[in-house]
Amino acid sequence: MHALCWERPLLDFHIMTIGQGIRRADGHSKVTGATLYLDDIQQENCLHGATVRSKVAHARILGVEKDPDFDWTDITVLTAKDIPGENLVYLMTRDQPALADEWIRHVEEPVALVAAPTRERALEAAKHVIVKIEEKDALLDMECAEHSDIRIFGEDNLFKKIEISRGEPELVVGGRMIEGTYTTGHHEQLYIEPQGMMSIPQKEGGLCIVGSMQCPYYIIKGISELLGPGFEDPDQLQIVQAATGGGFGGKEEYPSMLAAHCALLSVATGAPVKIVYRRDEDLRATTKRHPSRTRIRTRVDDDGRLLSVDVDMLVDGGAYNTLTPVVLSRGVLHATGPYRCDHVRILGKAVATHSPPNGAFRGFGAPQAQWASERHMDRIARELGIDPVELRIRNLVEEGDRTATGQRLVSPGGKTVLQAALQAVSDLEDEVRPEHPGGGGVVARRAKGRGLSLVFHGCGFTGNGEARLKGKLAMALEDGKVCIYTGSTEIGQGTDTIFPQIAAEELGIDLGLVYMAPHDTELVPDSGPTVASRTAMVVGGVCQKAAKALRSALQEELGLDAPFASLMAMRESTESLRVEAQYVDDGSLQWDDQTYQGDAYPTYGWSCSIVDLSVDLDTGEVIYERFISATDVGKALNPVLASGQIEGGSLQALGWATSEEVVLNDQGGMENDRLTNYIIPTSLDAPEMHTILVEIPYEGGPFGAKGIGEIPMDGPAAAVAQAIEQATGVVLDELPMTPERILGAMDERGVP
Ligand code: MOS
Repeated sequence: MHALCWERPLLDFHIMTIGQGIRRADGHSKVTGATLYLDDIQQENCLHGATVRSKVAHARILGVEKDPDFDWTDITVLTAKDIPGENLVYLMTRDQPALADEWIRHVEEPVALVAAPTRERALEAAKHVIVKIEEKDALLDMECAEHSDIRIFGEDNLFKKIEISRGEPELVVGGRMIEGTYTTGHHEQLYIEPQGMMSIPQKEGGLCIVGSMQCPYYIIKGISELLGPGFEDPDQLQIVQAATGGGFGGKEEYPSMLAAHCALLSVATGAPVKIVYRRDEDLRATTKRHPSRTRIRTRVDDDGRLLSVDVDMLVDGGAYNTLTPVVLSRGVLHATGPYRCDHVRILGKAVATHSPPNGAFRGFGAPQAQWASERHMDRIARELGIDPVELRIRNLVEEGDRTATGQRLVSPGGKTVLQAALQAVSDLEDEVRPEHPGGGGVVARRAKGRGLSLVFHGCGFTGNGEARLKGKLAMALEDGKVCIYTGSTEIGQGTDTIFPQIAAEELGIDLGLVYMAPHDTELVPDSGPTVASRTAMVVGGVCQKAAKALRSALQEELGLDAPFASLMAMRESTESLRVEAQYVDDGSLQWDDQTYQGDAYPTYGWSCSIVDLSVDLDTGEVIYERFISATDVGKALNPVLASGQIEGGSLQALGWATSEEVVLNDQGGMENDRLTNYIIPTSLDAPEMHTILVEIPYEGGPFGAKGIGEIPMDGPAAAVAQAIEQATGVVLDELPMTPERILGAMDERGVP
């Protein structure tokens, strides 16, 4: 098999490198439009696929028929009965079929596939496939799932139940009991490029699958049993990441489903098959952030110090398991927020409902958990009459404190980021905030408010994740250049820029001499998935290790103990000198997955958000004016990219806070499946942003770097709620805080 390759430009910058705001390697070709996304890649004789989906949440399939009045001559139709191997898209459990067979378990579930010479014809044909069903009662309310008579998963519809316990919270008496419940709705990743995939049969057998994705190796695992004879060997699948227009978790696991569909159609037709979702299909059918309900009960002393914390967290996984247990895990592990308490009990449950599966989304459970913990801190402050910032300072974890799982914290950065953010606020106090256009103009009645939140985020996989995974990366000296081979993908976050920076710095060579190989499973080793704020910190560390190994290999080859740059210039051999490095567990972390005790994460990032906003008292609209954040990034490998991650993630979080609402119909399907009515913030809605990068180095990361991809998602929503409260007096504990909810709460409270 040959790789489907496209040209990657030589990195055209020539300065040294770590801590510099190096231009993105992929930037020029993206802004000039030269980059080929999947939809731009033309493949000869390519058919186009479309998906026939369920219109109901729960039903028995009686049959799938073709409309006799439609012309089917150039159309292929597949159902579950036509699957040559196991009808399974595999990730963690063997529950999710590629096509519904006997049972439909959620609206928009794929039931049949069609392939046609054009996309238009495929979409038209899909409308003429008739799915005969017998509709059943659906279970859509997550609160009812565990004890419902309707079974979706296992005996009790529990995908996962986790208990964490520290000290003896039930024995803590006295103080004041403060209790609150906090909820969040679905949240759409809204990558700019919709999901897309293409499968190309290879002359020698096997398939090459190209597409928009975060995790090429997930797809091999995901569909390896699906295709039957001829595909027993996983090497028969070659997965190539195309340029990817955003993922945010939405292209972590879902692309395996799309790859399964393209592959099934390719195997059936012998032709290349491409499927690119329309935006409305993408919105209705693909994974979202898990809705959550978190109840927190605390006992606090008169000064507001936490005596005991009891958390009960529930998340809605949807109809199939996907990554839900891991999302719940990260949720409960962040459920106390960055605060100290010796007596903690946390109970988390993830349940199955007849709704489209929810999945990975930036933050991965931690934003839901810390929305609750931060709102609860505000509740305590309100009830005790303590300043919310002062209350946080009193409870913040410090050096040597332990988390709920008993992990002893090293150099926790809560105070540092808090002080940095407060300092920035006071430095900016005299500067006029920008006026936003539109709204009610001079007659608008607006109330201003300021809010603050404080969060932490575990970097990298939970517990033994990295030790089990042992991510690999290869590096080679070839054609007078250094080439990096990694399964870690570029999804806009900067991998293709950061890894060359790490290699160039370690080797002491010009950045222009370092290349990235295409993210193609035929060329690159499995570095683990591109998720969990692990790429720069964990795989970047493996990249640095590979660079060291390459230097040793070259020194050995030439028998000289000189700097890499001189040896490289001296080398005459044209043969590739290739090394591979791997993550090695140094045994410093102890984690027990049964008891949920020990070191949950190798390290944590810390972040403080402060938002200045105004609320339009007549429309309920929130207008963001200024957003200040201070975030501990360990080391800013590339400060421009790091700030970009934080600004983008913060704006995404501001959207989750006030405008992004997934409206569900009675089948649990998304009603507002357009960009005109699912409202994400644009640059016009964005506040003036001040992004402070705090560097508390993590010795396990390359040059001290920590993971930063997800933490900006965790804090802003709670800061917004606090600011709305200050502006209007209304208390909102439910996300999103849409104008309708704000106005409703103001009416209830009698705000004029
Ligand atoms: Mo990410 S939400 O860990 O793909």
